[in-house]
Amino acid sequence: MVDFVLNGKAVSVNVDGDTPLLWVLRDDLDMTGTKFGCGMGLCGACTAHVDGEPVRSCSTPVSTVAGKKVSTIEAMQNDKVGSAVQAAWQKLDVVQCGYCQSGQIMSATALLASNPKPTDDDIDAAMAGNVCRCATYVRIRAAIHEAAKTLA
Ligand code: FES
Ligand code: FES
Repeated sequence: MVDFVLNGKAVSVNVDGDTPLLWVLRDDLDMTGTKFGCGMGLCGACTAHVDGEPVRSCSTPVSTVAGKKVSTIEAMQNDKVGSAVQAAWQKLDVVQCGYCQSGQIMSATALLASNPKPTDDDIDAAMAGNVCRCATYVRIRAAIHEAAKTLA
């Protein structure tokens, strides 16, 4: 059994400890907002937070989150920073196909939680691991600045 806190609720899963967190979230806990892209830690589609830090859940063995706080896109509407990021995403119409976007929002939220006034360079560095095949990068950067403004 692996015990952790998911989106504020204690959960316990009976899985092999090497199972990637992504599959536990999606298959065992029905949190399907976290997406599978590459499965190799290269695209960021699977980004979740572990104790507030963005992690690639596809390459995070579930045993490593035992006793920790895991958050997914499903919890962002109840998070002060996450909800500001989502509002900015909507205002600036960031999304194209949408596949990468929960990962983008999770990385953007982690960035703003630790750095409320990021520069373009800070944003580019924090978001570098989140790939968007629709190339929404310019709108993502603008939306992060917009969210920072509303949170200030
Ligand atoms: S699916 Fe995890 S980084 Fe691509
Ligand atoms: S919006 Fe389509 S991959 Fe990013």
